[in-house]
Amino acid sequence: MAQRKLATIVAVTFSWIMMVSITAFGQPGRNHTASIELPDGDAKAFIEGACNVCHSSDYIFTRFMGGSYEEWDSLLATMIVLPPQQEDMVLDYLAENFPKQPGTEPVLIPGPVKINISEWKMPTLASRPHDPLSSADGSLWWTGHFQNRLGKVHPGTGAMQEFPLDLPNSGPHGLVEDMSGNVWFTAIFGTGYIGKLDPNSGEVDEYPVTTGRGPHTPIFDQDDTLWFTMQSGHVGRLVPSTEEMTISASPTSGTYPYGIEINSQGVPWYVDFRGPRLGSVDPVTTEITEYELPNPDSRPRRITLTPDDAVWYTDYPRGYLGRYDPETGEVEEWLSPGGEKSLPYGIASVGDVIWYVETYSRPNSLVRFDSKTEEFQSWAIPSGGGIVRHMVATEDGNLVLACSAVNGIAQVYIET
Ligand code: HEC
Repeated sequence: MAQRKLATIVAVTFSWIMMVSITAFGQPGRNHTASIELPDGDAKAFIEGACNVCHSSDYIFTRFMGGSYEEWDSLLATMIVLPPQQEDMVLDYLAENFPKQPGTEPVLIPGPVKINISEWKMPTLASRPHDPLSSADGSLWWTGHFQNRLGKVHPGTGAMQEFPLDLPNSGPHGLVEDMSGNVWFTAIFGTGYIGKLDPNSGEVDEYPVTTGRGPHTPIFDQDDTLWFTMQSGHVGRLVPSTEEMTISASPTSGTYPYGIEINSQGVPWYVDFRGPRLGSVDPVTTEITEYELPNPDSRPRRITLTPDDAVWYTDYPRGYLGRYDPETGEVEEWLSPGGEKSLPYGIASVGDVIWYVETYSRPNSLVRFDSKTEEFQSWAIPSGGGIVRHMVATEDGNLVLACSAVNGIAQVYIET
């Protein structure tokens, strides 16, 4: 049985400026230990104290790729309000010791397609918006993975609403809407549960997972049955009308089913981020079949399907876009414009066109691949993207991106 919980609805309408100036300090967690020593300087102690609350200061070396005073300022404004008397000290120290690293700019390929990108920042700092959703009423949703909440923005008015979750440390991760307008999410922390939010009442039903742990990415099939990947090497099925949950293990042990999509025949396909393989699930028996990819180093992370039911995936550590043909078993691969280190991640298709994000570069770049002409085009994401972990196509053929490390959500309008 699902447990009923009432989540508080916090209605907020923020402007860009107000959003970054609110004084919420985020959710302090355990103190993270850094493994890389910061250079000596006046801000070292402050950073070791204030930043390691949420993540280790190693991120400064490994993730953002450096920047100017202004670039550090706009990044940090998405996660922490610096005390005014220390602000210059911290930003000067970071800009001086961690300027933009060469070779981290995106590789941009010009082309004929025109797009417009609109972006919004989350009201709550350090939300780490993980997955996006475009709901039937035109709202854009995100999971506030590190702030235990869901949120939505109306792209026309910019009005925002947040839905804090009652169960602490849920780790809301994936997000999807059913045919009645309920918003379902995977709560990945701990053993995990599947949540169902009624956006009108704010009420949340929780369905704890019965086997394994870490429900990851959810998706509805054509019958409004929910399928979800799990960190424990399983794929789950939840039938909302009966609340029956079935969890199947992959044939290979130690797998990590990650991105998941449903093909035109109602068959779930997923990618295994821990091995060179894809999987499909028999919708009736829930039995999993696996398909090896030719390169043993492949680690497909996210998946999308084209109208011909071909399986497309981002091969994250190798920097490739891949296509698997379920009819012939044939695999084709294209090196991403940013090369082998480009870390392609979130992916979505609009008709026969594949869109995905390269997440090594700062800013991240949005890549378009026309599967008919095999031509690439790419653009820098204005906010930086900060690792676009998931993106989805909207009903009208545009895109929504969750910009995790810059605490934002982006809508991409594709001019046709
Ligand atoms: C309230 C929590 C919080 C505090 C405090 C905080 N951060 Fe962050 N920071 C985050 C979150 C959340 C992310 C995104 C993490 C992710 O995507 O894995 C992040 C990401 C980063 C990144 C990576 C950005 C990128 O593009 O990948 C850097 C660099 C960073 N923080 C530096 C700092 C510094 C420097 C401080 C202290 C002055 C600080 N942070 C304080 C929450 C915080």
